[in-house]
Amino acid sequence: MPITPQELITNLGDLPPLPQVAAQVLRIVADPDSTADELQRVISTDQALASQILKIANSAMFAMMREVKTVTQAIMTLGFSTIKSVVIASSAKNLYSRGSVGLQERLLWEHALATAMAGRAYGKLLRFPQTEEIFLAGLMHDIGKSVMGIKFPDRYGAMIRTIYNGQGDCLDMELEIFGFDHSMVGEALLRSWNLARSIEQTARWHHEPLDAPPESRSLTALVALGNQMALNQKIGIGRPESLALPTQQALEILNLTPEQLEDHREAVLQVLEMDKSLLTEF
Ligand SMILES: [Fe+2]
Ligand SMILES: [Fe+2]
Repeated sequence: MPITPQELITNLGDLPPLPQVAAQVLRIVADPDSTADELQRVISTDQALASQILKIANSAMFAMMREVKTVTQAIMTLGFSTIKSVVIASSAKNLYSRGSVGLQERLLWEHALATAMAGRAYGKLLRFPQTEEIFLAGLMHDIGKSVMGIKFPDRYGAMIRTIYNGQGDCLDMELEIFGFDHSMVGEALLRSWNLARSIEQTARWHHEPLDAPPESRSLTALVALGNQMALNQKIGIGRPESLALPTQQALEILNLTPEQLEDHREAVLQVLEMDKSLLTEF
C-alpha cells in the first residue's frame, strides 16, 4: 500500500518554495488588468532571469529580424504566455539542477525539456487547443525526482545510478525503497507552488494517464507521449520499454492507433531537432 498524501508530506518535510520572482510573474500574467510595464519591472529585479529571457527571445526559436535588447522588447516579442513558460522553466531548471545526484541532473533537466517540446509538438499535430499548457506540464512531469534527490541524496542518488546503468524500473524501486514515488512527490510540490491543477494532475498521473481526472486526461496523455519520445531519443534516465503501459493508455485516450502515432514520429523529431537550440539557451 502506498502511503497517504499526509504521510508523504510528513516524510518529505519542507518542500522547496517557488522562487519569489516567479510567483510574482505568475500573478501578473494571470491578471487581465496587468501591463507589460509591471511585468518588466518584476523581471528586471532578477538579472539572471532577465538575461535568460533575452537569450530566449533572440534564440533560433524565434528568429527575429532585429536583435531583442530589452526586457520590454522581449515581452512584446514573446507575449505574456511564453514569458510565463520561460519563468516557470527557469524555476524548474534551478530545481532540477539542485540535487546532489551527480552527473545525472543535467540529464533530468534535458529530459524534462525534451518531454515538454515533444509533447507540445504532438499537441499541435493533434490540434490540442492549449499547447503552452502541454509545454509546462511536460517541464514539470518528473519534478518529483529532483525533490527526492534533494531530500534523500544518498539513497535516491544510488537508485538513479542503478537505473542509469540499465537495472530496475524507476517507479517500482521508488515504491520499494521509499513507499512513495516521484509522481506523488511532484503533485505535492506543484500543489504547494499553486500552479494550475492540470499541471499537478499531469505530474501525478503521467505513468497511468487513464487514472487522471477527465479534465486533465488528454493533457496527461500528450505528456506521456512526449515522455516516451524523449526516452526513445535517449534523453533521460531509464529504458524506453518501461513506458509501454502509459504510452498504450495515452493512445487509447487520444484515440490513436500505433500506426497513426508512428506517422507523427518524423514531424515530432523534426521539431525536437529544431527546438534543440533551447536546450543550450537555458
Ligand atoms: Fe516520470
Ligand atoms: Fe519522464
